[in-house]
Amino acid sequence: MNTAVVPEEAQIVVRPLSAHIGAEISGVDLSRPLTQAQIKAIRGALLEWRVIFFREQFLSHEQHVAFSAQFGELTVGHPVFGHVEGHPQIYSISKFRKATRFEGEPLLRPWTGWHTDVTAAVNPPFASILRGVTIPPFGGDTQWTNLVVAYEKLSAPLRAFVDGLRGVHRFAAPQGARGTDAFDKAVKDQTLVSEHPLVRVHPETGERALYVSPGFLKEVVGLAPRESQVLLELLWEHVTRSDFTVRFKWEPGSVAFWDNRSTAHLAPTDIFDLDVDRQLYRTTLVGDVPVGVDGRPSVALQGSPVGAAAAMALN
Ligand code: SIN
Repeated sequence: MNTAVVPEEAQIVVRPLSAHIGAEISGVDLSRPLTQAQIKAIRGALLEWRVIFFREQFLSHEQHVAFSAQFGELTVGHPVFGHVEGHPQIYSISKFRKATRFEGEPLLRPWTGWHTDVTAAVNPPFASILRGVTIPPFGGDTQWTNLVVAYEKLSAPLRAFVDGLRGVHRFAAPQGARGTDAFDKAVKDQTLVSEHPLVRVHPETGERALYVSPGFLKEVVGLAPRESQVLLELLWEHVTRSDFTVRFKWEPGSVAFWDNRSTAHLAPTDIFDLDVDRQLYRTTLVGDVPVGVDGRPSVALQGSPVGAAAAMALN
């Protein structure tokens, strides 16, 4: 087993879970303030493994926020869908949250495509921290994919082509779905549309990531509609190749912490075939504006950047 202890004073054990992404971390209690060495070790593991997992961390909302705040400024729970009452930085991920956003027969099944969190904003959260509370005995796994390795595994000519492209990301109901009045109002009141590079340079590591958040990226700027559709389908199929991914089995007390600058993820749909409940809570950390290979930053076409929640009243 490929197990690494880093660095010595942090007493943290990092156990990789697949070739390219995902590691389980042990030897740390997330409910207590971390030492600088622990913060450094966890941040290092996040950069290396893109998504890191902790087990048996039974955090309250307050402890979840306190743990997250050691790695950056927290955003409001969700810029469009709000937050848990009394906890402005916590977003509730319940089994039926998406089902209630759409109308009609197929829409009773929630849409849960591959995506990177909130890429319709000009500054998508740099990281997300998701904690499992009510977890089905089986089913309900989440998957993540490594967008850096996906970029590196493209052929050189295709890499050179996508390096210069930009795409439009927006919040919208999925194709064929019609949002409820409440969903449509939330999206209209807080419309977010941004243009991001298709290849993002990671601000901490300098790596290039194929920044093609499938749920939000709608078109490639400058291409004809059919060219854009075919290219995006090719890239989406490529980034979700199973050898770039890791699949996580939740337990109550599990925490997943991922880097949104280099990953996309997929929420489970099998729970809708099971008579089980599933409840998780998420925090997100304020992100910077992505920058492309040519040094050009993303631009907001509609909506405001996702700000910090700290200034909000606690109710
Ligand atoms: C998310 O998309 O952040 C939630 C993932 C999940 O429900 O497993």
